[in-house]
Amino acid sequence: MSIVILISGRGSNMQAILDAGLPVSAVISNKRGAAGLAIASGRGIPTAVVQGNDYGTREGFDAALAAEVARHSPAAVALAGFMRILTQRFVTRYADRLLNIHPSLLPSFTGLNTHERALAAGVKVHGCTVHFVTAELDHGPIVAQAAVPVLQGDTADELAARVLRQEHRIYPQALRWLLEGKLSVVDGLVQVKEPDAQQTLFSEQP
Ligand code: GAR
Repeated sequence: MSIVILISGRGSNMQAILDAGLPVSAVISNKRGAAGLAIASGRGIPTAVVQGNDYGTREGFDAALAAEVARHSPAAVALAGFMRILTQRFVTRYADRLLNIHPSLLPSFTGLNTHERALAAGVKVHGCTVHFVTAELDHGPIVAQAAVPVLQGDTADELAARVLRQEHRIYPQALRWLLEGKLSVVDGLVQVKEPDAQQTLFSEQP
């Protein structure tokens, strides 16, 4: 019953998952220089790199990634700042075990630069979402969300930092539910088999 975490960079969500005491069997990056790799190694977690441009095609990359993931027979695969779109084949293989964290309140602001776009749109509430991964980018059944206020004069960095603190709260929680077998998807909607499960968090004072 362990998690394989896929990263591309800093790895702060990965760290939050480790700090929560969840069982992590490996951290895999698609970038050799990802800072999170050193953090994982320092904590005794096996790491691997499946570098995007070492493979000719997206299918080739995904097959190599799937083989690396499969070595650990994970109960859950967590995308934690993993900045690559996975193929339908990969997504199907891990369908009910594959979660992602996205820095917006989906379905608003899919894709990149979510904080800049939230500021430009003038929204007053922003946040983050944990969702099951489907082949469509940043779609898929929503497991948990956290909301933060957008404050007057916020920069994108300030807003990102406020959201990130909430990412670090909800992602470990969602993964724990998954490992405990508490998540099910009914008609595209996630149910948590826990009577008082709170799937929406609101930040404390910013
Ligand atoms: C996080 O904010 C995560 O939500 C985002 O990348 C950052 C990675 O930070 N993911 C995406 O934008 C995926 N679409 P981290 O490496 O410190 O966890």
